[in-house]
Amino acid sequence: MMILAPITAVGGTILAVRQDASMTIILAVALPVVAAVIALVAWKGIPLFQTVQAKLDRVNLVLREKLTGIRVIRAFDRLEHEAKRFDTASRDLTDTYIKVNRIIAVMIPAMLLIMNGVTLSMLWLGAIRIDEGSLNIGNLVAFMQYAMQILFSFLMFSTMFILIPRAQAAADRYNKVMEATPQIADPKNPLHAVEAGYVEFRNVTFRYHGAELPAVNHISFSAKPGETTAIIGGTGSGKSTIVNLIPRFYDPEEGEVLVDGVDASRLTQEELRAKIGFVPQKAVLFTGTIAENLRLGNPAATDEEIAHAAEVAQAADFIDAMKDGYHTVLAEGGSNLSGGQKQRLSIARALVRRPEIYVFDDSFSALDFKTDAKLRAALKKETAQSTVIIVAQRVGTVMDADRIIVLDEGHIAGIGTHKELLERCEVYREIVSSQLSKEELA
Ligand SMILES: Nc1ncnc2c1ncn2[C@@H]1O[C@H](COP(=O)(O)OP(=O)(O)OP(=O)(O)O)[C@@H](O)[C@H]1O
Ligand SMILES: [Mg+2]
Repeated sequence: MMILAPITAVGGTILAVRQDASMTIILAVALPVVAAVIALVAWKGIPLFQTVQAKLDRVNLVLREKLTGIRVIRAFDRLEHEAKRFDTASRDLTDTYIKVNRIIAVMIPAMLLIMNGVTLSMLWLGAIRIDEGSLNIGNLVAFMQYAMQILFSFLMFSTMFILIPRAQAAADRYNKVMEATPQIADPKNPLHAVEAGYVEFRNVTFRYHGAELPAVNHISFSAKPGETTAIIGGTGSGKSTIVNLIPRFYDPEEGEVLVDGVDASRLTQEELRAKIGFVPQKAVLFTGTIAENLRLGNPAATDEEIAHAAEVAQAADFIDAMKDGYHTVLAEGGSNLSGGQKQRLSIARALVRRPEIYVFDDSFSALDFKTDAKLRAALKKETAQSTVIIVAQRVGTVMDADRIIVLDEGHIAGIGTHKELLERCEVYREIVSSQLSKEELA
């Protein structure tokens, strides 16, 4: 209807002129006025209509932050500050909306005034012409119909100025999402891995998008089945970055990450990730039962396999203690569990998968020393045939690894066993002496 407005306007004008040329003068006067009103609306309105969307966004952002961070806001007594922030954003939106509505409030009566004015003058002029005998009633009625059609089309046209900018903003956003191409794509001619459980970094350097310095520099090491490789280093030294390169969450800037002898980017993501049991630093669980969450690792897992994985991950005790056991429903993000319980479930989830390569990113940090030791003893048996890569902060966790990689600000400060590193790696010695007492070191 609105798109047809210009066509109806032009068509109507031609028909109206054919009915009675002299009465077209009324239209010739009215149409420029209508055009002026529309131009005014467009000039004042379009920028406003466009900002409405941005301001609505801002209100949503503030509200969402407030809801997700409500505990932190309360704990830091920032309720008032947050309320003010919301007030500012919502006041801003209100003001813009009021301006928009003022324009609409002027525009619609103005258009109606013009339309009715035109009708009146046509009746008046038409009556005179009929009196003269130069126009008959049928023509007058037809002329009025056409004139209304024309004016109505212009009215429609002006409402387009209200709707189009908003639709445009929404369409832009939609297109941005739809057109985004993932940076990590499957290779056109994927290779297949021949070996199982081999991970090798060859001179890998990686920089996060937009970062000035690489997060990790010239990393080289290799791991094979039956071995445990540990990565230790201060916060922000690049430990998580290294392990995130294995399942190809990112591609290296330089060098190669080889999994089972093949560059990770030459395997399909499906094949690559099926090989890896990944326990991320921040345990993520989903709404659903415990069993459903564990089955994410392997949808075909039997109840026994699930129970076994939970046993190894030291999660069986607390799951059994729950009223519904494995059918206990987890709240969103697992918020009805403690940090350590979440960590153990996410370890169990990786175990259910029985992968070639295990990656534990600081997965024992929320566990007490006793549980940590029990879990690692059980894991050792379970993962004896697999390649294990452990990121840890505690020396106790990494001490008996076959290979320890010491990271210092994105660089490898040393690779070796605990004993070797104690002899020749200053950074490792510092970490050790800050954690262990003299007697433990002896
Ligand atoms: N998503 C990201 N975008 C940009 N920079 C990042 C991102 N993640 C990490 N970094 C940067 O990369 C560096 C290494 O971070 P990384 O998470 O690998 O450290 P980490 O050793 O795992 O630390 P932690 O012990 O705290 O987990 C840090 O300097 C950090 O600022
Ligand atoms: Mg980390």
